[in-house]
Amino acid sequence: MIALGCDHGGYNLICAVKKYLDEKGIAYKEFGTFSEDSVDYPIYAYKVAKAVTEGDCELGILCCGTGIGISMAANKVKGVRAAVVNNDFGAEMTRRHNHANILCMGGRVISEEDAVRFTDIFLNTPEEGGRHDNRVAMLKQIEDGTFSVE
Ligand code: RB5
Repeated sequence: MIALGCDHGGYNLICAVKKYLDEKGIAYKEFGTFSEDSVDYPIYAYKVAKAVTEGDCELGILCCGTGIGISMAANKVKGVRAAVVNNDFGAEMTRRHNHANILCMGGRVISEEDAVRFTDIFLNTPEEGGRHDNRVAMLKQIEDGTFSVE
């Protein structure tokens, strides 16, 4: 199950992503917004972040004008690793190396075609273990306040 959320600036991209998920038969839950009327992106970031961290959804996709504000809001929720993606390489590597659990994109930055391609890459790329597991564990320690460096 994929959690979907956006503000007015990302509404076009989330519609394109939904069409892609429908075509692929991939299940999703929508958390809004549902139009281009102006709204506050933290609301939708929070809903998707909670759905992912509470286990209702495995991964999330969030879109705003730049992808930045909505990623910042999502990353405030414990357990979220939200990444703004602007190219194919980033879409792949943020899953492989950072174990990103929320893909963020900007409707005023990338095309709908790009958004669909980044979504496809993101959803089809596995997490790599080994040293990447260790680094993601460090991210969790930073979040918990248990990380220490010499
Ligand atoms: C809304 O105008 C815009 O600020 C928002 O979509 C996003 O880009 C924030 O980071």
